[in-house]
Amino acid sequence: MTTHAPSRRLKQAFRYFGYEIRRMETPARAPRSEVERLPSIKPFWPLPRKPGGLSDEAIRAAFAGFDLWHYAYAFEGGLSFAAAHHHPGPHSNDPTRPLKRFAHFMPPLVEACGGSLAGKRVLDIACNSGFWSIQCALLGADVVGFDSRPELIQQADLVKSIVGASHVEFKVLDFWSMSPQALGGTFDVVLNLGILYHLPEPVSALRLTRDMASERIVLDTAVSPAGDRSILLDWEEAHDVRSASSAGLVVYPSRGAIDLILRHIGASRWSEIPIHTDVPRDYLRGKRASWIIEV
Ligand SMILES: C[S@@+](CC[C@H](N)C(=O)[O-])C[C@H]1O[C@@H](n2cnc3c(N)ncnc32)[C@H](O)[C@@H]1O
Repeated sequence: MTTHAPSRRLKQAFRYFGYEIRRMETPARAPRSEVERLPSIKPFWPLPRKPGGLSDEAIRAAFAGFDLWHYAYAFEGGLSFAAAHHHPGPHSNDPTRPLKRFAHFMPPLVEACGGSLAGKRVLDIACNSGFWSIQCALLGADVVGFDSRPELIQQADLVKSIVGASHVEFKVLDFWSMSPQALGGTFDVVLNLGILYHLPEPVSALRLTRDMASERIVLDTAVSPAGDRSILLDWEEAHDVRSASSAGLVVYPSRGAIDLILRHIGASRWSEIPIHTDVPRDYLRGKRASWIIEV
């Protein structure tokens, strides 16, 4: 692709009026052949239900016991529930979003793991109601998921009980209390999904994540789309089940900044996962990106 740099005159003209032109990063596109080459794994959707488990009425009543749900859920037998947020973002209530994210980063992860997650020990950081933990458990992994919000861990335990997933355990824990001691050792695969931009310190957060992993990490995060090595600061209120657990400073590194941080913490290899056409719009617009990181 040819990119045309703005001429010096144009830049100067913008500066005169108080504006600065900055290059935005465009995400790398995966060629169709690359997408077709990846393992063809699909999300378990609708989720299976444990035979002899909770009735439709009992499941409906249990879901209705919570005001907010970050993901929409669908279970076998035509039972489905919408997502609900106090402060939805532009994409939060889209029921297809987690399924599209699955298609984006799970096939490259499974490929990096040699074709299967079976028997892998997986840590799901900030697991919310357990969407990713349950998918990994259904793919054969031994999973621990944690989140700082107790009500989300209750939701995750509910989904686990409906599915009858074994080999998955959920805990209430704050990100900064994460350690091999607190979680029974290190993990083959660590999922750092949708959490980096809810935290104030990306270097420490990625170092702590690396210390939990013995093989690899999937990092999936909102990023600053700037085409340089910068970090955008923001303030976040703790007002939703998709938000930081306490109000405070949060950061959005650019892709270039993520590269530098990974180099600084001594990750051995990493690559950004190229996007294909059916990813959510924030990925297409370069505002969100994912990496497979070998520790
Ligand atoms: C946007 S959701 C992401 C959920 C999931 N990881 C995903 O990518 O689909 C952010 C999650 O981070 C959790 N969270 C926020 N701050 C946290 C912290 N300090 N420690 C643990 N979890 C936290 C929230 O409760 C919420 O479940």
